[in-house]
Amino acid sequence: MENTTIDNVEVINIPKIIDAERRGNLCVIENDILPYSVERVYYLFDVPSDANRGGHSHIACHELLVALSGSFDVVIKDGTNEKTITLNKPDKGLLIVDGIWRELENFSSGAVCLVLASEVYKEEDYIREYSQFVESKQ
Ligand code: TYD
Repeated sequence: MENTTIDNVEVINIPKIIDAERRGNLCVIENDILPYSVERVYYLFDVPSDANRGGHSHIACHELLVALSGSFDVVIKDGTNEKTITLNKPDKGLLIVDGIWRELENFSSGAVCLVLASEVYKEEDYIREYSQFVESKQ
């Protein structure tokens, strides 16, 4: 994980089925569009617009983030470079590999962030101190 950079983070298209009879859209995520099997699903909602989420990296856990509703910004850092990606479409997912620092901010009203993770929850897998993260990348 120590070699990952923000260039390894990508926005992927989630297959969308547009209903022929105008009944709305349906997106489907199966393991074949991800480089891992999903072990855990969680979601963030009712996030105040001035709140920050994330603020950590994972030692060995990949995550796909999807703005199911509304929008928010994801700041990703690899200890050298950083980039901000706005998620605002339910058919786009941000695939964050392990070893990447992420901060989620600017949540719009009603925003829902779905996360599909490659591992079950383990607090030992988190790096929550930015200085420790930077050290881990050297
Ligand atoms: P936290 O990592 O701070 O959330 P975020 O990174 O999205 O801002 O997690 C908040 C709390 O929820 C913390 O006590 C850990 C707990 N938690 C679980 O128990 N299981 C999980 O799958 C996740 C993501 C968090």
